[in-house]
Amino acid sequence: MLALELKNISKTFGTFKANNHINLAITDGEVHAILGENGAGKSTLMKTIYGEHHPDPGGEIFLRGKKIEIDSPSHAIRMGIGMVHQHFRLVRPFTILQNVILGIEPRNFLGMIDYKKARAKAEAIALECRFDLNFDQKIESVSVGTQQRVEIFKTLYRNAEIIILDEPTAVLTPQEIKDFYVIIKNLKAQGKTIIIITHKLHEIKEIADRCTIIRKGEYIETVDVATTSEEELASKMVGRKVDLKVSKSSTVNSDEVVFKIRNINVLNVKNLPAVTDFSFDLKKGEITGLAGIDGNGQSELVEALTGLRKIQSGHVLINDQDITNLSPKAIYHKKLGAIPEDRQRVGLVMDFKVKENFVLQTIDKKPFSNYGFIINRELNRFSNELIARFDIRPTDNEIQASALSGGNQQKIILAREIVHNPDVLIAFQPTRGLDVGAIEYVHRELLKLRDAGKAILLISYELDEIINLSDRIGVIHKGHLWADLGDSAIKNNPKLKEDIGLYMAGGKPV
Ligand SMILES: Nc1ncnc2c1ncn2[C@@H]1O[C@H](COP(=O)(O)OP(=O)(O)OP(=O)(O)O)[C@@H](O)[C@H]1O
Ligand SMILES: [Mg+2]
Repeated sequence: MLALELKNISKTFGTFKANNHINLAITDGEVHAILGENGAGKSTLMKTIYGEHHPDPGGEIFLRGKKIEIDSPSHAIRMGIGMVHQHFRLVRPFTILQNVILGIEPRNFLGMIDYKKARAKAEAIALECRFDLNFDQKIESVSVGTQQRVEIFKTLYRNAEIIILDEPTAVLTPQEIKDFYVIIKNLKAQGKTIIIITHKLHEIKEIADRCTIIRKGEYIETVDVATTSEEELASKMVGRKVDLKVSKSSTVNSDEVVFKIRNINVLNVKNLPAVTDFSFDLKKGEITGLAGIDGNGQSELVEALTGLRKIQSGHVLINDQDITNLSPKAIYHKKLGAIPEDRQRVGLVMDFKVKENFVLQTIDKKPFSNYGFIINRELNRFSNELIARFDIRPTDNEIQASALSGGNQQKIILAREIVHNPDVLIAFQPTRGLDVGAIEYVHRELLKLRDAGKAILLISYELDEIINLSDRIGVIHKGHLWADLGDSAIKNNPKLKEDIGLYMAGGKPV
């Protein structure tokens, strides 16, 4: 039986057709993946099912065979449809329980929130669906993986039978992803129907039964996952053959150090040591990878290096100039670029236009300004050039960053930082949320920068990405540089991945 069927669904924004006559049939109890390039229209389609968008006239939606109209998310929820968005929507100072019941708080006869009743219901569901949550923790103090679980749990608390997950694993660490797969399998065993958007092909193979491919707003086809290879999925999605592995030339080995981190100490938000006596050198013409499990000081390290967090002691030097504790802007103009971890909070100003986001640090400089006046002609020329070169879609430089798809938002940051031509680029999870074609592109751009003699610090939770791109690999563990593997330790080591995994866990290979 079909849990959900979409017929002829279109969605137009202005003159742009984000979804164009899409058909989709979801079987009861299946895990159905949605695959498509950045900007293909996946999130838009899901938001239509969730009642956040109204489709153009002419489209039809059937829930268990019955034609329905979905007016709003609360209406979708009443019909048993839940959604977890690409970017979480939790209230950070609230506890997990408060977030779970938000908007549907049970009340006692005095009209006050009945936490006891809420907790009893939440605990019963947690037990049934095997969710491990401490309801009294505040969102701001829990890991991203837990936040994700809270978002999924919220849909269960609202009795969802169909659960839509928009890129749920983009922000998770490898361990959290394993836990997530278990949750999906449990939910399926409970009879839930799951629709999941993901860019990770191996993930589709791991958890999905069927997969629908969307390209440029159009339905392409629905395939059985078991009989379709990752390469086939990739080429159906992009419409051409893609190279799933990057090939990299060997380094020039200049040995010239351009970036020096010397014994720095940095505290976290709770004023506890996050980075301890950390020293690291970056050389010209090298990609230096920094591997580590999420939460081992990576975020604080990057914030400190880019001027967003105070360095308590120690020094940072770029081209032998001390940049310790300078302002973010001053550091940027000393030729340090950064692709930050959180694109929506740090990387972009979401309600600024695309073209303004390209010049956040340079708008007051020539050629974009002259005696305090913004030269729009130059700004337009520059932004159109970047949009074309980095294939940012749509190509309109006047729309707000918030109207772009997640992957295209990431591309704005990449374009801005790469074109700034930094001597040192800190790339923190640079391919998070990108489709396989875009990942291939970003990897090639990073390698180009390296071959042009730049120093790159690549921080990623994806071990494969680090191993494929890096000339040297450091491992951060509990804020310490726990391992530092040079060229010889990386090359010809068949156990490299296992070794790094051990270091990441705080161990050492024997
Ligand atoms: N509110 C909006 N106003 C204008 N355009 C929009 C709006 N929402 C989405 N779009 C456009 O519709 C297209 C599809 O966006 P959507 O977010 O559905 O892509 P996606 O497939 O989810 O991509 P990604 O993998 O990058 O998340 C994009 O080009 C986007 O810019
Ligand atoms: Mg999306």
